[in-house]
Amino acid sequence: MSSAPLPTTLDVIGPDTFAEQGYPHAAWKRLRQEAPVHWFDLPGGVGFWAVTKREDIVWISKQPRRFQNAPRLAIFEEGAPVEGERTLARHLLNMDPPEHASFRKTASGWFTPRAIRRRQGEVQRITRELLSEMAGDGEEREGDFVTDFTAPLTLNVLADMLGVPREDWRLMFRWTNQIVGATDTEYQVGDDPGASVEKARTGLFEYFTDLAAERRKNPRDDMVSILSTAKIAGEPMPAFELLSYFLLLVVAGNETTRNAASGGLVALMENPGEMQKLQGDLGLVDSAVEEIVRWTAPVIQFCRTAVEDVEVRGQQIRRNDALCLLYPSANRDEDVFEDPDVFRVDRKPNPHLGFGIGEHFCLGANLARLELRVIFRELAERLETVEPAGPVERMRSSFLGGVKRMPVRYRIRPD
Ligand code: HEM
Repeated sequence: MSSAPLPTTLDVIGPDTFAEQGYPHAAWKRLRQEAPVHWFDLPGGVGFWAVTKREDIVWISKQPRRFQNAPRLAIFEEGAPVEGERTLARHLLNMDPPEHASFRKTASGWFTPRAIRRRQGEVQRITRELLSEMAGDGEEREGDFVTDFTAPLTLNVLADMLGVPREDWRLMFRWTNQIVGATDTEYQVGDDPGASVEKARTGLFEYFTDLAAERRKNPRDDMVSILSTAKIAGEPMPAFELLSYFLLLVVAGNETTRNAASGGLVALMENPGEMQKLQGDLGLVDSAVEEIVRWTAPVIQFCRTAVEDVEVRGQQIRRNDALCLLYPSANRDEDVFEDPDVFRVDRKPNPHLGFGIGEHFCLGANLARLELRVIFRELAERLETVEPAGPVERMRSSFLGGVKRMPVRYRIRPD
């Protein structure tokens, strides 16, 4: 254990750290061991408690009335002020009981294991098509795994499910990058991250206002039709909450699975023995997918606000204090996972918190699992060789671990 004072600056959630080095696992490990619930000042903003152990994150997440999601969605080093986060959108992730459950129910039928199984054929078709395009005649090629494969794949699956016409899929991609990558100069519009998110949100809201009106007239078997005709306590869903719902689904459905799939291939390239194990036994696909979600943990953090004074692991938390739940840290908790820093496709049990836990447990977890199972089964079957052809470029964000570019040299067996 180091005797140096614990860091009080923001390097445990600083976006530059994520962009330049990836997740700061060493800093999180130190916090888990020395100060698992630790206060950080936020220069120019309101500070927060960093919660790094799995047990504490579970305890907090399972008490949604004591630790609320509103008003702070996540901790941002810069940009979106607390008030701005609330007025920008109102969706499941910043709602609390009892309101939260009534909104969640309107979409949950679409995400049950049974409903999701029906999408398997379509997910397989999209995956195979993209791989065949990448494969050519099976010769060695170079490409970008993100732009050629994971980004179009997750975008296609989600847009299809929402009912967004194919010619508009690129728009979804632009808006979601702009919202999540507001603090990354590549995606930011103008100098102010808050204004950049606002611009994307306005575009997305205008688009879905028109699409929802169209589907109310001519309903189809898609999510835009379901949500735009859904009732909350017998009344149609208010426009702001309806549009926020679409925003949440577009962002949550794109930015997460894409990064799990990209990060999963990075992990397999860095651990060729694990890739061989998977290729030798496709029965390991399910456990490999859980390990990929544990390992990549694409959602870095969400925040809860204490509604009363409360003690967490010996720390006195005051009413209105913010608690930052660091999921990737929980996923490396040495009290729970054997050899947490080792990537193992056959890890079992694997009680990771990549999808969170409790009231707000990821609504799309079944869909994400389906997509990742299809992706890694197909890759295990068809990828003959693969190696990095350049450095991985990561997004500058304190919130989602984004892989922007991932050049690879590969040979894929043509279909
Ligand atoms: C590997 C992929 C994914 C990861 C790692 C992930 C992770 C998460 C996490 C950590 C949460 C918050 C859980 C909590 O607070 O306890 C969440 C919530 C949510 N996710 Fe996902 N997610 C993924 C894919 C998806 C997909 C594909 C969709 C939709 C199509 C989706 C939709 C949502 C929604 C709507 C919520 C809010 C649920 C609520 O507040 O009740 N996610 N997700």
